[in-house]
Amino acid sequence: MKKILITGGAGFIGSHVVRLFVNKYPDYQIYNLDKLTYAGNLFNLKDIESKPNYHFIKADIVDSAAMLSLFEKHQFDGVIHLAAESHVDRSIANPMEFVMTNVIGTVNLLNAARHQWKDAMEGKRFYHISTDEVYGSLGDTGFFYEDTAYDPHSPYSASKASSDHFVRAYHDTFGLPVVISNCSNNYGPNQFPEKLIPLFINNIRHNKPLPVYGKGENVRDWLFVVDHARAIDVIYHQGGNGETYNIGGHNEWKNIDLIKVMCRIMDEKLGRTAGTSEQLITYVKDRAGHDLRYAIDSGKLQKELGWVPSLQFEEGIRLTIEWYLSNQEWLDTVTSGNYLKYYEEQYVIR
Ligand code: NAD
Ligand code: TYD
Repeated sequence: MKKILITGGAGFIGSHVVRLFVNKYPDYQIYNLDKLTYAGNLFNLKDIESKPNYHFIKADIVDSAAMLSLFEKHQFDGVIHLAAESHVDRSIANPMEFVMTNVIGTVNLLNAARHQWKDAMEGKRFYHISTDEVYGSLGDTGFFYEDTAYDPHSPYSASKASSDHFVRAYHDTFGLPVVISNCSNNYGPNQFPEKLIPLFINNIRHNKPLPVYGKGENVRDWLFVVDHARAIDVIYHQGGNGETYNIGGHNEWKNIDLIKVMCRIMDEKLGRTAGTSEQLITYVKDRAGHDLRYAIDSGKLQKELGWVPSLQFEEGIRLTIEWYLSNQEWLDTVTSGNYLKYYEEQYVIR
């Protein structure tokens, strides 16, 4: 019987990871620890919440005493750590929140794991989920590899880079059995509508302007979230101790080209005349420190562990749009309350 702690399991990627582990491994006990910030939503896990191997713990990873006593109480065999503040624009508005959760929170978990496992590291695993944004920004060519030097530019990526360094330091200094993966931009169901794809789907639906930063020429490599969850499963079970794996979709899009594809599909789905949604595109002031291009080489993960993405982008983006259109209640719930204040501060009062 394995006891696995998944942090941030009520969030976007975490909820897909929790679902996959709960369904695929009925012999494991899965503990989802989440503070339930604006980004965490237990509704994301409605379909599995009554399974006997699923448990929810509401807690804050910044609370070091709580982390120590939870590890003491449950004696976890493994940790898959996704809890984080994850939105670049919010990190520009409020960097300290990112230092607290992403850096201090991660070190608290490392300490709790080290304390619990100090006499028996065998068979234990601390898996830290990170981002390709730690590598900085590429020009028109080239890729990020596992040994690309870190060069973060936003408070978000700086906090993730810092947490990655701490995870490696705990491996090198204390022998903690760790593994890290750095993934490209995810998209799919349950993503909070502050990130590009769900934000623009929601705005198109409401005929609201689509705020494109700068000239829309920045490039991102998009991966369907379920493929990320599959990669996490493979790496958790087969990844080498102390190793890093890059995860990406080999699916680069200039923002403006991606937005036009979304507009075209949304016109079709909403029965609008072709070209209607594109008229909502509005160029706005660029994001400060905006990284030009991210592109991941995930050759190591493919060669060593056999993972490849399962879904082509055209299929993934259609599935995603269909999910948001048929889950309008979810969208309406998460875009009420504090969301409206966030939206106003981010996009109107500037
Ligand atoms: P998200 O913002 O949707 O979810 C984060 C979750 O963490 C939420 O459920 C939130 O309630 C929880 N959380 C936040 N602070 C917490 C705290 N102090 N204590 C406990 N729980 C807390 O994020 P996401 O997009 O699902 O990203 C998950 C992880 O994957 C993050 O570590 C992120 O850096 C990484 N990542 C994300 C992407 C992406 O494209 N979204 C890409 C690569 C890596
Ligand atoms: P985002 O989804 O925030 O992910 P990240 O910044 O972590 O890559 O943004 C994806 C791209 O879309 C990025 O280049 C910024 C751009 N963008 C906009 O042009 N307008 C927006 O309103 C948002 C949220 C993002």
